[in-house]
Amino acid sequence: MGSVKFLTGLVAAAGLALATFSGAMAGDTSRPDVSFGKTISQSDLAAWDIDISTSDGAGLPPGKGSVAEGKKLFAELCEACHGEGAKGGPQFGKMFGGFESMKTSKRKLNPGSMYPYAPILFDYTRRAMPMDAPQTLTNDQVYALTAYIYNLNGLVADNAVVDAKALKAIKMPNRDAFIVDDRPDASAVRCMRDCKPL
Ligand code: HEC
Repeated sequence: MGSVKFLTGLVAAAGLALATFSGAMAGDTSRPDVSFGKTISQSDLAAWDIDISTSDGAGLPPGKGSVAEGKKLFAELCEACHGEGAKGGPQFGKMFGGFESMKTSKRKLNPGSMYPYAPILFDYTRRAMPMDAPQTLTNDQVYALTAYIYNLNGLVADNAVVDAKALKAIKMPNRDAFIVDDRPDASAVRCMRDCKPL
């Protein structure tokens, strides 16, 4: 048994070495210093390049979704952990209301109250939810779920269809209730070369 496993391992290792070697052959000739792998294509990169600037919504993708679609999706994909109608489930509490608790010591944290900017909900859901299958939702589905959760929070109308423009236009109720982080390193600017010492 042991020797069979060993042999299988050896064959797999040889296969990997071969694959790496052919990768090197296909490498980027404009970078002779990089002697393995292949240049990543823009389309390969697209799946990872999902950054959104949450304060102004820059980078929000095309697409749209309605409150009604979001309600249906939520029941199918989210309810098991978040409860019916997002009223709270085994994994997370209620997802709406409690805005006025923000400045008290018993804050109720949910997407309506704890996000200063509306695009955060889109960004978070697209990256991380549903927790058992993250990044499986289409952009339209994420817009629909965002529309539904913000509708529960009274921030968009029942018949709303939410897209990038609509999402950017939502003013979050606790937008101005956060304490600004004025520590010096919070305003540091990203620098990759010829950087000035801090
Ligand atoms: C398998 C369980 C599970 C499923 C299914 C699930 N969630 Fe979650 N969700 C969680 C857990 C656990 C957290 C808390 C994560 C944390 O605080 O780090 C969470 C947190 C969230 C939050 C709050 C994020 C925050 O800023 O704290 C949102 C919004 C959310 N989920 C949306 C969704 C949506 C939309 C779906 C359906 C597409 C979904 N979730 C499906 C487990 C789940």
